Amino acid sequence: MPINWYPGHMKKTSDIIVENLKLVDVVVELRDARIPISSRNPKFDELLQGKSRLIVLNKSDLADEAAMHRFVRQSKDPVFVLNAVSGKGISELTQEIEKGTEALRAKLARQGRKMRPIRAMIVGIPNVGKSTLINRLAGKNVAQTGDRPGVTRGKQWIRLAKNIELFDTPGILWPKIDDDSVGMKLACTGAIKDQVLPLEELALALLSLLQPHWDAIRSVYGIEELMELPEDMTLDTAELRFLYTIGHRRGCLMKGGVVDLERAAKFLIDDYRAGKLGRFTLDEV
Ligand code: G4P
Repeated sequence: MPINWYPGHMKKTSDIIVENLKLVDVVVELRDARIPISSRNPKFDELLQGKSRLIVLNKSDLADEAAMHRFVRQSKDPVFVLNAVSGKGISELTQEIEKGTEALRAKLARQGRKMRPIRAMIVGIPNVGKSTLINRLAGKNVAQTGDRPGVTRGKQWIRLAKNIELFDTPGILWPKIDDDSVGMKLACTGAIKDQVLPLEELALALLSLLQPHWDAIRSVYGIEELMELPEDMTLDTAELRFLYTIGHRRGCLMKGGVVDLERAAKFLIDDYRAGKLGRFTLDEV
């Protein structure tokens, strides 16, 4: 099932990015460190027209350390590993942005223009931590942050004390996510709204992606053996049994002691998003 998630404001954002690109010196592209490949918006290559780009792997506290470092080594663009909540990695990022100062000074001098702050445009998928990063950089609550994708809306310039100006853009996805596994990973990490996919389906996909870590997840939940499914359930997969057992363990029970799979799914997905299961990267890096 190809996931179609491209509300009108995302088209508008693409236009805003293109219109303002000529005003900026560098683009800072935020990706989710847990899905460094799947959170890459393929439209950006076309929209950003070769503008110099810094990649930021945010939510690094939730991702597998070794996978992040492999990604950093493989990338053509400079990559920064960041935890926007704690601020770890911010000073390396600002230093890199500021590195452009001399080149900018020389360029403006050649054009007979006065020096101005370096201008960086922040782009990324929804819920990747753009507002959190901007608030951190600005040192006060200048951007609205929220717990659901698409909350960061306003286009705005923000002046930082350090000779840097930021142009904030709302999170965007791309018009059609053809690869189901990319769609699932975006949904598991919260970039696609929960309303778009049934939670149970999402939880089963997450368990399938996390298969190499099942032992670790079982010990988080204190599960020794996976339970058998009730006889009237038509499907029987290892993922379903795992989800059922998690639900049982967490007390997600309906009348008659049958597990409420939807509630179990919500527990599992929330626990993954909060890093309670461990630091697991969903892309193969
Ligand atoms: P956006 O502007 O790109 O849409 O994202 P936003 O900053 O609103 O962040 C979305 C959620 O991700 C927020 O959590 C935020 O705290 C969390 N977040 C941002 N950066 C990091 C990070 O580096 N590590 C971790 N673990 N989380 C991060 P929330 O629960 O939705 O809201 P809140 O209650 O924390 O404000």
